[in-house]
Amino acid sequence: MVAGLVLAAAAACIALVLVVLPAARSDPYTRQTLELSGSVEHGALLFRLNCAGCHGIAAQGLVGPDLHGVAERKNQRQLIRQVVSGRTPPMPSFQPEPQAMADLLAYLNGLV
Ligand code: HEC
Repeated sequence: MVAGLVLAAAAACIALVLVVLPAARSDPYTRQTLELSGSVEHGALLFRLNCAGCHGIAAQGLVGPDLHGVAERKNQRQLIRQVVSGRTPPMPSFQPEPQAMADLLAYLNGLV
């Protein structure tokens, strides 16, 4: 009986951590961005204008790291956070429109 309750409580905790928290972490901006389909070409243009100074014209790395395979190291939400948060100076915080962010994501996802 008690063991059953403990198990139910444990299951509830696991559900909370796996399902509820990640959904709550996904703010409206991130959700909106992930619902859009991005253009790799426009993403590449945005990248050359905003990011290439630090990451290199072909994302090969300069001041900032080489971004090839970055979509395997970070998930989509982490990539969005990396661009908008400004939490890892000297990389600044960018505020792209959701469509522009979706385009940048499409470009980053294509860097294999
Ligand atoms: C002023 C220089 C600078 C600019 C401009 C810049 N970055 Fe960065 N970026 C960095 C640095 C430095 C890091 C490493 C941060 C760390 O982890 O400490 C980084 C890290 C990253 C990462 C994570 C790499 C990894 O291996 O985890 C991504 C993705 C990224 N940048 C994308 C972008 C995009 C997209 C843009 C343009 C919108 C951009 N950066 C513009 C300097 C810059």
